[in-house]
Amino acid sequence: MTLKDLAAHIATEFRKRFGHPPRWIVAAPGRVNVIGEHTDYNDGFVLPMAIERYAIMAADTAVVPGKITIYDTQFKETALIDLSTPITKAQPKWSNYIRGVLAGFQNRGVRIPALNVAFLSTVPIGGGLSSSAALEVCTATLMEAATGRTMDPIEKALLAQKAEHDFAGVPCGIMDQFISALGREGHLLLLDCRTQKTELVPMSDPSVEMLVINTNVKHELGSGEYAKRRAECEQGARILSVASLRDATADQLEKCKAKMSNVVYRRARHVIGEIERTIHAAEWVRQSNWQGVGTLMYSSHASLRNDYEVSCKELDIVVDIAGGIGCAGGVYGCRMTGGGFGGCCVALVKTGAADAIAGKIEADYKAKTGIEANVFSSRPAAGATIIKS
Ligand code: GLA
Repeated sequence: MTLKDLAAHIATEFRKRFGHPPRWIVAAPGRVNVIGEHTDYNDGFVLPMAIERYAIMAADTAVVPGKITIYDTQFKETALIDLSTPITKAQPKWSNYIRGVLAGFQNRGVRIPALNVAFLSTVPIGGGLSSSAALEVCTATLMEAATGRTMDPIEKALLAQKAEHDFAGVPCGIMDQFISALGREGHLLLLDCRTQKTELVPMSDPSVEMLVINTNVKHELGSGEYAKRRAECEQGARILSVASLRDATADQLEKCKAKMSNVVYRRARHVIGEIERTIHAAEWVRQSNWQGVGTLMYSSHASLRNDYEVSCKELDIVVDIAGGIGCAGGVYGCRMTGGGFGGCCVALVKTGAADAIAGKIEADYKAKTGIEANVFSSRPAAGATIIKS
């Protein structure tokens, strides 16, 4: 569904539920990360792209004061949020992403109005496409529309990240919320996670597109492995006597190899290499050097699989199938995207070959795993938007 169709759909859902048309409609996209994985919390670079999959909300002020009613039109579940006290974690679980953002506005002294909200998300949940960041940034965008307090998109992204830390318990970096808030149609976002400086990298060459391949193996960042990787990176930085792995070079790492465990060494090797790959990839996207970008994507995947150990059998199978199709069949590169342990792969492919590639990946993946994959293509989408105000 296009964003326009989605907006019409959520407006209808709102009217069915609350009896009149909505006053505001806002949306925020999910993302794939083209390259730069597990580098954001190491002060490195990332190169994500907003995708044409969105969290979308239709809303109006509520007659009854003191609470927000949010109706999830997909799962037919309602969350009630009491505004008379400081907002805390509560049930249902998905409402915590929303609660976390509202709490951020409360902490900034913003008076949150009573609202009725209908909500829908086309970002697959648990697929590593940042469904939670999309929901958080969408909520923050609704608050901007409903309170008239517009926020600098960077402040908005940081507020959303804090919601994820405090209300979902995931110590994520800044990538997901930044791309959802700052994405631009036809562009990737090169983000320096240390300075928070962003650069839009045009990617409007019609001869290529991104395929997103959902392995349909669930991904659970809260499981502790993510926090473990962060801690290992911090340990590596301490041993290397640098503020973060961003400041270390491959040479320095080799010299210090004996001082650290093999695990910490390999984690650091991934991060240092991945930061370099990301900077190169951005340059090659600018030059439309798709073979170059693709090669870096494969190297990134190998490093995430072997050194960082966040891939899984199903992700590796997808990358192998894509590699087998190769440039001759229209695949430039493929890698896992996002936190890992399941979720999605992203493949850079020739536009005309996309359908055949998707069909081949689906068939071979099913034959090898017994699982149905979902494949869709996306052009770089815009970040959060107020569709109706
Ligand atoms: C998750 C986190 C991001 C980032 C990626 C790995 O998506 O939310 O901040 O760390 O994993 O690159």
